[in-house]
Order: sequence, then C-alpha cells, then structure tokens
Amino acid sequence: MSKFLDEVNRGLSGKVKKLNPKWLYDFSGSKLFEEITKLQEYYVTRTEIRILKQNKSEIANLIGKKATVIEPGAGESIKISIFLKSLKDPKCYVPSDISKKYIKKIGKKLKKKLPNLSVHPVVDDFTSPKKINSKILKNKNIVIFFPGSTIGNFEKKDAIQFLRNLKLKYNPKKIIIGVDLIKKKSVLLKAYNDKKGITAKFNINLLNRINKELNANFDIKLFKHSAIYNKSKNRIEMHLISLKNQKVKVQNKTFNFKKGETIHTESSHKYSPKSFSQLVNKSGWKVKKIWTDLNRQFSIQYLI
Ligand code: AVI
Repeated sequence: MSKFLDEVNRGLSGKVKKLNPKWLYDFSGSKLFEEITKLQEYYVTRTEIRILKQNKSEIANLIGKKATVIEPGAGESIKISIFLKSLKDPKCYVPSDISKKYIKKIGKKLKKKLPNLSVHPVVDDFTSPKKINSKILKNKNIVIFFPGSTIGNFEKKDAIQFLRNLKLKYNPKKIIIGVDLIKKKSVLLKAYNDKKGITAKFNINLLNRINKELNANFDIKLFKHSAIYNKSKNRIEMHLISLKNQKVKVQNKTFNFKKGETIHTESSHKYSPKSFSQLVNKSGWKVKKIWTDLNRQFSIQYLI
C-alpha cells in the first residue's frame, strides 16, 4: 500500500478526520500555493521578502563563505535567489522536495538565475528523519534555508522533532527560518479566506488529488473550504466541510461523512518571539538573532 493511501485511510477513519498538510502539495497544489503567495491578503510572502532584502548583508555575514544551502520543501525561487545572491561565494544549492517534477523545475530555474552555482536537487520527504545520501553532506558550512513559515504547519511536537531531525539528516551548522507571528485575528482570517478563492481551490485540490491518485470518488461540489482561527492554540485551521450526509469511496473502503463534519487539512501556527524560542530550545538549537518588519507581522530567525 502506498504511504499516501495508508495515511488517507487512517486520517479518514479517526473520530476527527484529519490529513497531513504535506499532501496538499502535488504539482497542482504547489502551483496554487504559488498563486496564494501573490495574493494581496496573504501578507506572509511579501513581508518575508522585505525582511530578507533589508537584512541580507547582515544575514550573509553570519552565514559566512562557501556555504552549501539546503532548502527542504523548496518552492518558488524569489527568496532563495535573494539569499544566495547575497552570500559570499556560495558553494552549492540543494533544493529538496517530494515532488520530483517540481524540484527539477526549481533547480533549472535557479541555475538560470545563478549560472555559476552548482545545484543538486534531492527528492526527499523532509519530514522523515532519514539521512540524505549525498556527497554534499561532507561540506563544512551547511545551512538550512527554511522560509515561508512552513514550520508553522507542523504540530508543536512535530516542529521540535523536525528541527532535531535536520541535524541528523543534513548535518547543518546554521538555520535561517521564517516564522509567522501572532497578530490580529481579522488579518489572519482574510489571509486564509481570500476573495479570489485561491486558498479554497488549494484546499479542495487535496480531494482532487485523492480522487486521481487513489481512485476515490469525492464529489468536490459537496465539500466547502473553511479557515478558522483557533485562539487557544494560536493557529489558523483549514478544514473541508461536508455539505451533506454522504459516503465516499477510496479504493475499496467507504467513509461516512455527516453534514457539517470536517476534514482538518492544515494548521498554521503563529508564534511570539518568546514562544518560538522556547520551542527551539527543546530541539537542541538556539535562536541567535531575529529580524522582523516594522509591524512585527513576520520574522526571520537565525538558529545555531
Ligand atoms: C506553506 N504554509 C506556510 C502556508 C501557511 O500560510 O500556512 C500554507 C497555506 N495554507 C493556506 N494558505 C497558505
């Protein structure tokens, strides 16, 4: 049985239906996410880019010369280009992701922008603790670049485990990580319920993917995107709400949905500098420096 099928079966069998957000990113999902990053309501990407541009020299000084930069779950190339261009004599760029097609495209795009840099795409599930098998791990100055606040999509215990695993997987000395900050609920709700409905498409795409890859029969008209703010957990939650009582088949298994029942498809945790630094401490890393924008909406953090 494929890992995807196994996780979908288990995720839909529980009392509360839940799927790991990593499955949102097939080729179409990755494309839709790229569209989200350009939305007016989605402050995350443009704010992070601004922070990165404003502080690139200071960041480059901390990283030092001849860095090998590994980007787990590499996405669009704007941020990594700014970062790599600011570094002194970077040695190698390693984009890593589960989608082979996507990662190859990212690698090619980057090579065009930085023709002198060596690029080594690696197909890998960055949430697994498995060490990657590559000679690049011999390099001394290995830096993890993990922007976008993807760390926020992990449950807290998994975020700690992920940061711990990075050491085993890639042997890095430093991490540059984007972390979204706690802010007004209205700003958050708009960012995850955009007017054009791209976030809704991104969420619904998961059902399309299950239909295509796992021979399922979700009727996507009978599910609706919802994004709510869970204040006690400081997180946005994305759900797919069933619009009626219905049965859905995934291969030979049938799952019952009650009207109003949801599949929890993603959490996006928001942190304060203090709560994030407490999390980091539990993982064996230390926050050395934080850069934010004037409105303290987003942060880029340097971990050693
Ligand atoms: C990738 N990740 C940080 C995004 C977020 O904001 O949590 C994913 C996303 N989900 C809906 N909109 C964007």
